[in-house]
Amino acid sequence: MSQPLVPRILRPRRAAPADAVRPTRAEINLEALRHNLRVVARHAGAARVWAVLKADAYGHGAPAVARTLERGVAGFCVALLEEAIELREAGIVAPILVMGGHYGAAHDEVILRDLIPVVHDAEQIRAFARLVRAGLASGPIDVHLKIDTGIARLGVTMEALPALAAGLSDVPEVRIHGLMTHLANADDGDPGFTHAQMARFDEASALLGRHGVVPGVRHAANSAALLRGQALLDAVRPGLALFGVSPRVDSQALTRELKPVMRVRTELVSLRDVPAGGAVGYGGTWKAARASRIATIPMGYADGLSRQLSNRGHVLVRGARAPIVGAVSMDMAMIDVTDVPGASLRDEAVVLGAQEGPLGRDAIGADEIAAHAGTIPWEIMTSISRRVPRFYREP
Ligand SMILES: Cc1ncc(COP(=O)(O)O)c(C=O)c1O
Repeated sequence: MSQPLVPRILRPRRAAPADAVRPTRAEINLEALRHNLRVVARHAGAARVWAVLKADAYGHGAPAVARTLERGVAGFCVALLEEAIELREAGIVAPILVMGGHYGAAHDEVILRDLIPVVHDAEQIRAFARLVRAGLASGPIDVHLKIDTGIARLGVTMEALPALAAGLSDVPEVRIHGLMTHLANADDGDPGFTHAQMARFDEASALLGRHGVVPGVRHAANSAALLRGQALLDAVRPGLALFGVSPRVDSQALTRELKPVMRVRTELVSLRDVPAGGAVGYGGTWKAARASRIATIPMGYADGLSRQLSNRGHVLVRGARAPIVGAVSMDMAMIDVTDVPGASLRDEAVVLGAQEGPLGRDAIGADEIAAHAGTIPWEIMTSISRRVPRFYREP
């Protein structure tokens, strides 16, 4: 694998544990990650696991996650070419599928870095063919072709597929090694739409077969499909489940075996008494109904504690729940610890994950936070910002 000629991909800087001054940090449990891979692999049966590590491995830090999973997976999937390059630069040698389909002026990087591109139109196929003809690769390059079977996002439409398939014999420099689609409703209780998508996918496979194109690997399943045993095919592409998070708020039964990988913790950095009637935070959106003890935590919306959690949701202190009160601000949030006897400065405050303390044991999941914030667990995980250093632990 040659080195690229010019470093043209910009990378955001992520806070490093060694730089951490604030007590706000994300702890990543690598043993839980390995456990989840074992669970996922068992559900996958004969299908091989391609771990989805886009968006910095759903906020867990892609290089460390990739190193931990590398020996147990068939490969990794990312969304961006930049993300694939980050993994290669971290020394990851496993196959990497670039799913987003954006290669800009950097198609050559795909070949130089030994990546597998996903293509979804004839022009992309021709662009890679030109590079092979120019001598950048010694033989044909393998790509995965994405079919739009009903999500209307990326992929060749069923209408455009016949023409694309007919033109493939003109580009022997590119081999359709994989065929993939993405499911729109896999986490829906009703599997009808998934069945319809898979029927279209079979049609697409048959059509390609009539043109002599028989992909070696076909894949469709995300975490929800995989855990429901749907669309397993030759390979599966789980993301969220690997991180121990439920793909759907009401599917706890499906994911009971999984263990959350990320825990986000900080500490109480300020404590004050607020009299009955006193207001807290910007806009005074919370008013004390009784004399209250209010603690400040150094984590705000710029760290990924959604402003939607203002006056909603909880944080764990001493093993008990303390409600978030007032508007979450950029770097800080306030919590009501009136009912947390003994709450003191430097006490640990857990925003995401489990805590055990003198008052008990409790856990706050990404699904619970998502419900309070009016969003989905995927967004909660990927919103923990780069200001929050990731600390890796075993376990
Ligand atoms: C194309 C594709 N495949 C697989 C996944 C993994 O999905 P999940 O995190 O639900 O397992 C995603 C994530 O959204 C995706 O975009």
